[in-house]
Amino acid sequence: MATTVLENILDLARWAPSGDNSQPWRFEITSATSVTVHGHDTREHCVYDFDGRPSQISLGALLETLIIAASGYGMRAQISPRRAASDNRPTFDIDLIADPMIKASPLLPCITERTVQRRAMRMTALTLQQKTHLEAAVGAGYRVVWRESPADRARIALLLFRSARIRLTMPEAYKVHRDVIKFGARFSDDRIPDQALGLDPLATLAMRWMMASWPRIKFFNSYFGGTLLPRIELDLVPGFACAAHFAIVPAQPSHSIDDFVSAGSAVQRFWLAATREKLFIQPEMTPLIFGWYVAAARRFSTVTSLWDDAVELNRRWSSFLGAEVAGRAIFFGRIGMGSPPVARSLRLPLHILTGQQR
Ligand SMILES: Cc1cc2nc3c(=O)[nH]c(=O)nc-3n(C[C@H](O)[C@H](O)[C@H](O)COP(=O)(O)O)c2cc1C
Repeated sequence: MATTVLENILDLARWAPSGDNSQPWRFEITSATSVTVHGHDTREHCVYDFDGRPSQISLGALLETLIIAASGYGMRAQISPRRAASDNRPTFDIDLIADPMIKASPLLPCITERTVQRRAMRMTALTLQQKTHLEAAVGAGYRVVWRESPADRARIALLLFRSARIRLTMPEAYKVHRDVIKFGARFSDDRIPDQALGLDPLATLAMRWMMASWPRIKFFNSYFGGTLLPRIELDLVPGFACAAHFAIVPAQPSHSIDDFVSAGSAVQRFWLAATREKLFIQPEMTPLIFGWYVAAARRFSTVTSLWDDAVELNRRWSSFLGAEVAGRAIFFGRIGMGSPPVARSLRLPLHILTGQQR
């Protein structure tokens, strides 16, 4: 149970989103008003965590959430990245300073309400006012690129369908999916419950059975079109059933950890602003991540034929979005109205994140 102001702030901050709900952060409380955030990435075992970028984006989202949470207590969070930290362990020292100028952020109530929606959303277009609020939320240094027409949504749905075939036929991703999906669950503290994935109950059961072993998946993929149903339900349908797709694009190309951490702050402001507008978001990061592998000419799978598929996906992705947007975007997703998901990821309790005994 959180008891001090700092603990209350951390208790809210931990609701920041992270790739696969990995929560790549631990907190070391160093005084009543200071904490060190020990970040890590998952690149060693997660093929999606290209150079730790998604983890760095998640850490940026955490820091932004912490700033917003602190505003509720009239406090300014002063964040100093530790320069000596190694690349896969970004570390931040944070001091909370009482500041009469700080007013509670209007995004504060959205921190715990924000959640990913992976199922079909309404196709009602965003209003100009909603788009203006969302574009303002990312802040200076970033812009939002929209793709909204039915034809554009159909094209993106097909690209996601193509991208998902790569994802579902590589053993490297199988290992990740096996470890991050919690089967038979509506909620999970440290993973993604299967019911939050967006599959219908029968397909979920089939997936659970197939995922028991890689040879089983390979067999069904090879002879029974095993990837078809999940690709239709998880990519094709939701890719079309939304109000719009968006890319968050920085003014300058991103290279450093700082760049991706600050991108994560922009992402979280955007996502919380969407929540405030009663809109849901689902990140669609895999085409972007495969694009990073292609740009770096770095192989991501032992299945050699998948490389050509990724190159072709990236070519289509770039020709559709424009090379500059496709090459520079740090976040891609879909957005729309709808009913809230009935299943969602929860978070590790604060005493685990702080390493404190209860
Ligand atoms: C950097 C990043 C990448 C993500 N990529 C995806 C993605 O490609 N597909 C997806 O469905 N969700 C994606 N997510 C959403 C997370 O899985 C989700 O935020 C996490 O499981 C916690 O769930 P919640 O947002 O409902 O609290 C991503 C989140 C972040 C921060």
